[in-house]
Amino acid sequence: MRLPQSQGYAGDPVRARSIGPHRGILHGMILEVFDESRLAEADAFTLGDALEAHRIVHFPTCPFPLPPQTDLDYLRQELPERLSLKNVSYHPEADRVRGLQGDAGDQARVRDILRGHSDAVCAFLDAHMGHLTRDWRVGTCSFRPIQEKGRNLKPHASNELVHIDAGAYGATNGDRIFRFFVNVNPSADRVWATKGDFASLLARHGQAAGVLDGSGQPSGAIDKRAADHLFSGLISGLARLNPSARVLDSSPYDRLMRRLHNYMKDDRAFREDTTGLETLRFPPGSAWMVFTDGVSHASLEGQFAFVTTCIVPRSNLRHPARAPYEVLRAAATVPAQAASSPDRRTRL
Ligand SMILES: [Fe+2]
Repeated sequence: MRLPQSQGYAGDPVRARSIGPHRGILHGMILEVFDESRLAEADAFTLGDALEAHRIVHFPTCPFPLPPQTDLDYLRQELPERLSLKNVSYHPEADRVRGLQGDAGDQARVRDILRGHSDAVCAFLDAHMGHLTRDWRVGTCSFRPIQEKGRNLKPHASNELVHIDAGAYGATNGDRIFRFFVNVNPSADRVWATKGDFASLLARHGQAAGVLDGSGQPSGAIDKRAADHLFSGLISGLARLNPSARVLDSSPYDRLMRRLHNYMKDDRAFREDTTGLETLRFPPGSAWMVFTDGVSHASLEGQFAFVTTCIVPRSNLRHPARAPYEVLRAAATVPAQAASSPDRRTRL
């Protein structure tokens, strides 16, 4: 089994450079590979600590059974023609599939496949990083049936543009967005790009994105105020009638993160900037997982993948200072003058 190839600095111990998880990974060392023997040696915190250090944790072979071949063939052959939304997704809160054109039999079959895969992902993670999965919110499990390259989606929906995830799951309030990917293409790699982690992006682009003000402090509140609590209360009431309403909720933190997400996709200078750019190739049958709110990413190329999304409570983290929420709070506590100095900006 081939390991993923990184076109950039990863894997080159001389050129690879990490400036520490607190201060951001500019480039290199973003990938951590766990083959069967390394996974067997990992203790209860190894995988979780790698995620919190904003590594992309890669398994050369998916470490648990995938759906039967007949089901994979069915998804690959039928779903490209039957897609009605960006992806076909299983929503556990409603126990139903969205984005699929098909009769009740198709809906049930796809639901069962995706639900089964989501359960397998969660069982593996419960066994290998149980401290992070405690009380987490298991979100959608989607199948990506369309070739990502040249999909020409609107920028904010595009997977091809490097971004951090924000704003698509309702209010996280600083809880972490976790995603587990499996490339189930029978022959082609899934190709990703990254431009580094949240802290380094904030340091380089926070002001241009409008996330930081001219003095280097967050341009808005991070925590909820009275009006936000009122709004969240209303959404919470709605969600009791229809759990899907949770995605309507928001918070000051989530709005700041969304601002960075939009800037990364909209700003031509950022899109053309190659600072920290790495390209990663994930071979067929391999799997990888990452905090997608903390590591920038784009799907440049690839067709047929499972993507499972979960929200990890911030209180589960062993290294909360590395989370975007705490990175923003730390920026808020830096005296304005110091924050505005060039030295401060380059040290982050
Ligand atoms: Fe994303």
